[in-house]
Amino acid sequence: MTRQPSDGLIFFGATGDLAFKKIFPALHAMAKRGRLTWPVVGVARSGWTRDQFVEHARKSIAAHGQPDETAFAALASKLRYVDGDYNAAPAFEKLAKEQADIQRPAHYLAIPPAMFAVVTKHLADAGCLRNARIIVEKPFGRDLQSARALNATLHQYLGEPQIFRIDHYLGKEAVQNLLFFRFANALLEPLWNRHYVENVQITLAESFGVQGRGKFYEEAGVIRDVIQNHLLQVLSLLAMEAPTSADAESIRDEQAKVLRNVRPLNPDDLVLGQFRGYRDEAGVARDSIVPTYAALRLHIDSWRWEGVPFYVRAGKKLKASATEVQVELKQAPPVVFDDTPPEIGNYVRFRLGPDVAIGIGAVIKKPGEGLSGQPVELSVVRQDAASDMSAYERLLGDAMHGDATLFARQDSVEAAWAIVDPLIARTDVTPIEYAPGSWGPEEAERLVEEIGGWNLSAGVPPST
Ligand code: BG6
Repeated sequence: MTRQPSDGLIFFGATGDLAFKKIFPALHAMAKRGRLTWPVVGVARSGWTRDQFVEHARKSIAAHGQPDETAFAALASKLRYVDGDYNAAPAFEKLAKEQADIQRPAHYLAIPPAMFAVVTKHLADAGCLRNARIIVEKPFGRDLQSARALNATLHQYLGEPQIFRIDHYLGKEAVQNLLFFRFANALLEPLWNRHYVENVQITLAESFGVQGRGKFYEEAGVIRDVIQNHLLQVLSLLAMEAPTSADAESIRDEQAKVLRNVRPLNPDDLVLGQFRGYRDEAGVARDSIVPTYAALRLHIDSWRWEGVPFYVRAGKKLKASATEVQVELKQAPPVVFDDTPPEIGNYVRFRLGPDVAIGIGAVIKKPGEGLSGQPVELSVVRQDAASDMSAYERLLGDAMHGDATLFARQDSVEAAWAIVDPLIARTDVTPIEYAPGSWGPEEAERLVEEIGGWNLSAGVPPST
């Protein structure tokens, strides 16, 4: 049944934050495109009626744009609601009745990961997993051991092709473009290796803080929240070998290989920070040592990347919001034109958000007398990126169709945990305090001294 579309979506956590922020808007967008053709059953333990649930869906959509009345009516006509406790069988008996007309359900667990195992078991006991797919949200486990245990639990009831692990970064248009731009052109391949690449920098900077999610963040911290998943997935797309085709397994095989070849981290390759004021956030311990910033230096032990440092940094309350990849190329030998400042060089830059751009940094002759250089960027900037299909709409659609390309496979998830495990296991490293609105702790500069500092374009609008 793997590639037959699912014919009903059941989502747990239907009255929760993720549903409000992402799932209803995605379902509404699908309805608008005429793609919502199946029932949607919300499951929650809020004691609500179906009418309250539909009203909640409307509020969510209104909070994220203008509801389209025809699309909303189409969505509302598909909505069903089951109320009950996830820890007990009766809710699942009710669900089994509610989904009786659904032959191939897709169960979306938008609930805390601690609940995945118990919900899956109850689904199996109630006979709701026949021909089913299961969609799970990150974080998938808390470390390598718990991720393995969770995989083992899910595999008791489901085969790997039935499991869809969401990493919404993989659903982003700009992240897919990384893969596309690399392998749809012959341009980069000759340069994309240790002979020409000096270093790679990946930045996920956010100017906002934990936005009321202090309790969640205390459990996660920056490494579990965005590095183990979003940024390592980006790294794998950047560094992978060419897949033999665009099918899910070919691509995911190559991604997994990269992650397996990342060398375990050494403490000197890490700087952790915490923004001043984090400890005053609701839900945060007054003496919390949870990092809100991390900068890492990684090495990939492969023929292609031997000796090329990959720097990854992410943080909250930084100077700007920007997600960006910069691949710096080696300098041209200063033989013909030796008057070019060493900080000016060639690079390839992928701006992944909030705006979307691909830029190639080059040096041209400065007009006037003499032969000195000035930097320019040849770039493609997407002005209409805001109208892109949302990552959640794309991922939900793909999961319903059984296309796993944009979902994290078990081996990649485990390999990514193996990279960060030595960091999260440490309780002896106190993060360095940094000022909100800065670029994080100054110590993070130490990591990049050898390459002349972090690239400066993160946070600066791409040149046009
Ligand atoms: C989420 C994290 O997975 O990704 C958030 O939990 C983070 O803390 C977010 O802000 C970043 O995603 P995006 O799409 O806004 O860059």
